[in-house]
Amino acid sequence: MTKYPSGEIEPNANILARNYQTSQNVRARFMLYDFADEPMDMEAIVIDGLGLKSNETVVDVGTADGNFLKRLEIEYGHTGLLLGVEPNYTQANKQEPAWDPMSTGELAKSLSMNRNRSKIENIGASMLQDIIKTFDENEPYKFNIVAATADAIPLKSNIAGAVTGFSVLYHLKKDDRPVAFNEFKRLGDRFAGSTSGETNKANHRLIEQEIGEYLSQIGIETTVPAPMNTGFTTEKAKLELPQYYTNVYMVEQNCKMLINTAFRAERYLNSLMSMWNQFDPVPPEEAYREILLSRVYPMINRVMLNNPDRSFIDHISRSAFICSDEPINPGNGFERVYADAA
Ligand SMILES: C[S@@+](CC[C@H](N)C(=O)[O-])C[C@H]1O[C@@H](n2cnc3c(N)ncnc32)[C@H](O)[C@@H]1O
Repeated sequence: MTKYPSGEIEPNANILARNYQTSQNVRARFMLYDFADEPMDMEAIVIDGLGLKSNETVVDVGTADGNFLKRLEIEYGHTGLLLGVEPNYTQANKQEPAWDPMSTGELAKSLSMNRNRSKIENIGASMLQDIIKTFDENEPYKFNIVAATADAIPLKSNIAGAVTGFSVLYHLKKDDRPVAFNEFKRLGDRFAGSTSGETNKANHRLIEQEIGEYLSQIGIETTVPAPMNTGFTTEKAKLELPQYYTNVYMVEQNCKMLINTAFRAERYLNSLMSMWNQFDPVPPEEAYREILLSRVYPMINRVMLNNPDRSFIDHISRSAFICSDEPINPGNGFERVYADAA
């Protein structure tokens, strides 16, 4: 029987790591937000709201391929130190995975050592030198990636003007989140990032379930991926962030994702393809692809043709937040979230 996880699902590092060996999957999913009928550039809004000084150090947690840091460097001419924290750092520089949850390799050992937080202070710079991966000379960007997880960041205290984490907090186990927030606070005063709401891409999820059905019909039984964001949705962020910071500001995007051209339909299909290795066990790639082409693509086209506005529509529900214990004034539509308001 195909299984459909429900409720709040604790992230499974092994299953997640399959998705983040290259940045292809993240990018395939995130480009769909370009098809919003009311677009919102979450990263730009956060940069504006933070009012970053050009020379401040920024630590971006769960940086994947460093897209946010690249933007800071190229679009904003940021001159301060740019550091990404990323367990699956192959996404940025295509080296062998540094963090294999199944292995007891050297880095994995040093990471578990870092879980003893009192040691982090002492390790400081020498540890940093060992594990910071710099890009080769051909690489145009200057930022560095630290191979680590959010709950044990081997960087010196007070190093950051701001710590950021876009679409990453939901990948942390519930018990690791308070530890991670302690880390963010240890590094710097301000923390900003984004997450998504309970109804984000609801149709994408329904289709993933249908794919599970189709796989079952051809004798392939799997567990359909749990929605990635259940641990830290917008709704939960409103409750949780004020537990860590005195001042919490959020802005939300709730709008339609319009799939109304062949190009967009193909991108939507690509995004569904990006979830292939999140089914467990992973179904044969050919069978999955075949279902996308023979079942899902025609369905999306039928909806596009039959809808008076010639669109297949999904829902976008996302949010960005800026937090600090110091007074802040992010503007840009950010509204204050109070501890008892969610
Ligand atoms: C959805 S992607 C977001 C990437 C990037 N922040 C962006 O917005 O484009 C989530 C990233 O978090 C990373 N990640 C997963 N678990 C993590 C953890 N415990 N600590 C830090 N990063 C983690 C994943 O490897 C992945 O690169």
